Amino acid sequence: MQTWKLGALTGALMLVSSALANIEEDLSTVLKFGPRVAGSEANEKARAYFEAQFQALGYMTRRDVFTYPRFDDLGSDVRVGTRTLAGRALEGSTGGTVSARVVRVPGVGTPENFRAVNVRGQVAVVQRGQIPFLEKARNALAAGAAGLIVVNNEDKELQGRLGERTELPALAVSSSTGAGLRNDERVTLNVRVRDGEVRGVNVVAFKSGVTRPEILFGGHMDSVLRSPGANDNLSGTAAVVEIARRTATTPMAQRSYFVLFDGEEDGLRGSRAFVKENPLLVQGLKAMFNFDMVGVNVTPLNVSGESRLVDIARQAAQIAGSSPDRGGSDQAPFAQAGIPTLFFHRGLDTNYHQPTDTLADPALIRATVDAALKTADAALLAVPAGR
Ligand code: BES
Ligand code: ZN
Repeated sequence: MQTWKLGALTGALMLVSSALANIEEDLSTVLKFGPRVAGSEANEKARAYFEAQFQALGYMTRRDVFTYPRFDDLGSDVRVGTRTLAGRALEGSTGGTVSARVVRVPGVGTPENFRAVNVRGQVAVVQRGQIPFLEKARNALAAGAAGLIVVNNEDKELQGRLGERTELPALAVSSSTGAGLRNDERVTLNVRVRDGEVRGVNVVAFKSGVTRPEILFGGHMDSVLRSPGANDNLSGTAAVVEIARRTATTPMAQRSYFVLFDGEEDGLRGSRAFVKENPLLVQGLKAMFNFDMVGVNVTPLNVSGESRLVDIARQAAQIAGSSPDRGGSDQAPFAQAGIPTLFFHRGLDTNYHQPTDTLADPALIRATVDAALKTADAALLAVPAGR
């Protein structure tokens, strides 16, 4: 499932059109593209920009392509008269528009609950809880419902999963939205979804001839839907590219690989694919450093991971550390493969995964790079050759 494109030709062409930039320019250029959701145009533009940066530094670049299924809610709601009520498609729901009456089903949507009312051709409204979403949907279908609304137990939106593709438009709403849906009222359920294959692309950069690197510097370049992902994770991407700039003409470049992972937000897709598809390279690594959310100081720079590497980072770069790490980013598949990892981060900020994630501080990214380079130097000295 992998196509390797050695970037020599495209690289030479791109060299002409791209000048070497710095962190500030990386941030301003790439933020203009918009949210970098895997598979989106902005994601591809950002990748092309960073490839050109690597190539201008004299690195080769390669694209590792992988695919995976993804379900997207493209914006779903319930219309009541002139009012539009927010809702979220249950993952696995079919798309569609249903105009019908509301039938409030007593309870959570068991077969017994459905026997108490007649939902045939109507929009059934059930409470969250007790049985899986999939059972609620199957029971609604069996009772002849044309659509389903699941009401949350809390007054916030609910991101539910059916777990299987189900031939019923199904939406989840907050408790207050649910309480406002009156029996017999005419509503229009709008479920707009896309259920398809995503093409993810990792960028791999290295100096010509380097096939067995000792250290891999990585960070994810994708972001979540509707978030510009300045801190999560343009900051980490910029750190990786800046490390490539700083080491380009040093011996460290001969010992390093740089990887910009795609599909992290969809479940570490890019890093998992990389570990799976490059077993020899991965097994030869002495260390994998991952950078995720290093542009906003919620906590001072922190590393977590393999205890020996954490100690080295503490000593060499005076940074706080803990082991093991909390997972949740691209170091995890490497750690699972037995590779010593370090996860560089500055904590979850309040704009995490929000449209307001628009700022990353170049000075904090630079300080992260300083710390990572000191740690890398010390780590490669400390780890015996041929580990
Ligand atoms: N950037 C976060 C991970 C993170 C957490 C970085 C804490 C720094 C501090 C990452 O993009 C994310 O959202 N991960 C998910 C899990 C992933 C498998 C989708 C998470 O942590 O919930
Ligand atoms: Zn992230």
